[in-house]
Amino acid sequence: MTAKMEAAIPTAALYALGAVALAAPTVMLKSRLQLSKAKHRSLGGHARLAWRVASWVPFYHYDDSRFFVVDGAPDAVAAQRRADFVRLAELYRTRYARTLQLTAEVTGLISDLQFTETYRVPFQFSRFVRGRLPVGAFLESSSGVTATDLDGNAFYDLTGSYGVNLLGYDFYKECIDRGLERVRALGPILGSYHPVVADNALRLTRLSGMDEVSFHMSGTEAVMQAVRLARYHTRRSHLVRFCGAYHGWWGDVQPGVGNPAPTHETYTLKEMSEDSLRLLRTRNDVACVLINPLQALHPNSAAPADSTLIDSTRSAHFDRAGYARWLAQLRAVCTERGIVLIFDEVFVGFRLAPGGAQEYFGVSADIVTYGKTLGGGLPIGAVCGRKQFMKRFRDDRPADICFARGTFNSHPYVMAAMNEFLRSLEAPAISALYRDLDVTWNRRAAGLNQRLRDAGLPVQVANLSSIWLIFYTRPSAYNWMFQYYLREAGLALSWVGTGRLIFSLNYTEAEFNAVADRFVAAAEAMRRAAWWWDDPRTTNKKIRRRILREMIAQRFSTRRPVKQ
Ligand SMILES: Cc1ncc(COP(=O)(O)O)c(C=O)c1O
Repeated sequence: MTAKMEAAIPTAALYALGAVALAAPTVMLKSRLQLSKAKHRSLGGHARLAWRVASWVPFYHYDDSRFFVVDGAPDAVAAQRRADFVRLAELYRTRYARTLQLTAEVTGLISDLQFTETYRVPFQFSRFVRGRLPVGAFLESSSGVTATDLDGNAFYDLTGSYGVNLLGYDFYKECIDRGLERVRALGPILGSYHPVVADNALRLTRLSGMDEVSFHMSGTEAVMQAVRLARYHTRRSHLVRFCGAYHGWWGDVQPGVGNPAPTHETYTLKEMSEDSLRLLRTRNDVACVLINPLQALHPNSAAPADSTLIDSTRSAHFDRAGYARWLAQLRAVCTERGIVLIFDEVFVGFRLAPGGAQEYFGVSADIVTYGKTLGGGLPIGAVCGRKQFMKRFRDDRPADICFARGTFNSHPYVMAAMNEFLRSLEAPAISALYRDLDVTWNRRAAGLNQRLRDAGLPVQVANLSSIWLIFYTRPSAYNWMFQYYLREAGLALSWVGTGRLIFSLNYTEAEFNAVADRFVAAAEAMRRAAWWWDDPRTTNKKIRRRILREMIAQRFSTRRPVKQ
């Protein structure tokens, strides 16, 4: 090496260092931009911003003088609304007297009840409605597709018990009763297994197409364990979830509003988007991608609750082939990048097909979580996965383990009820329910939509098989009132109201027709009461602008904030 060359080395090194120093921020910026592009435009895609906005929103409410005329309705319309509101309130007060009395007695003691009662309708209307049209929280019995309250009123059940009720309440009663008999001799011993666990493991691995299974106590826990395993095996930090998707209430899968702590290792991306695939192809810190196949009904939107039903922008559309294509693309990227693909089938597992969303969309995951109906009516979470992702220790590093427990995991009573459920899937009567499942439920949804259109009612339904969602076709600030008319018509809804109806598969044609008749009658009653009076100049945008103006006025008013 010449002296000249030797002298040039430090200079070259300096240049190289300079180039790296310049390139590093450029690469970081590019990666940051790519992440921004892969996020959904809505607040749901931006947890921190959503948080800030939520903390800014002031409380205010519509009193008697505003409640009936927020949309500028004339006096005659307001009078019609008021008269029917009073009629409904009186009807609820007398028809549901005992149920409402017990509810009122315990609401102060049960925090969950206080929450659901407050968030049944948009907060501006909530105080007025709560005081006059309370909804009962108690039921006495169930039979067939109905549930009966403490006053003897039978309702067609459209709550589906959060999705647990797939095959009818009587079916689960039998699962629990028969299961209980089978494990009675052992009782509630934990730690050691009842033999029924062996059969469950065999059946679940067969149904899921996976190698191993672990049992937990809720869907939330199953998801926690699936993500923990993915992080352990990939040695990467981040999980990817898609905008709007619910995966239980564990912090890492619920960034933003609802979770008071910030999450640092979660990316919330756009579903059904090339930008998200591009991001997954380039990042090295993604351990797993979580899919909730229920999002196929409303990609990138959260479960539609009536507490956010301030106008008629709620929409839904299920495109089975399009979603299957998206899942196949995601599968390919995950395989290419060594990312663990987790199907969270806690909700849809066994509902779309015996083999769940994997079978329904024709795509295999690396890990699948189940819950809800799998417990045969009792609380459950389960993780099924490929061998290489389920192992909780390393043969060559004995101290490097991935811990998971849970006192009540594999509880004999739960395992026995689960076994009854799993074995029933092979019974001819249950297999028959799955035959033409989508044809049946699509036909029923289309039939109801046709009736609503023929009657000129501004209501339609969208469905993913037996999971339905109500949406509204003309701008209105009062759509949330529809839940009260549906209840009056004898249809039981969960606290989210009209955003989600869940049918059990044992609904006969006659029972479904009875529901459809009541549904149409409820919509007609709502129309007669003039809640859907519409000013031809009203648009959803105008409704939103009005609410924004109200919030700004409240926020900057000199009055002290109103206490709830
Ligand atoms: C897709 C999905 N994952 C996880 C969960 C959480 O399950 P659990 O409520 O049993 O904790 C739910 C509950 O609704 C769910 O729908």
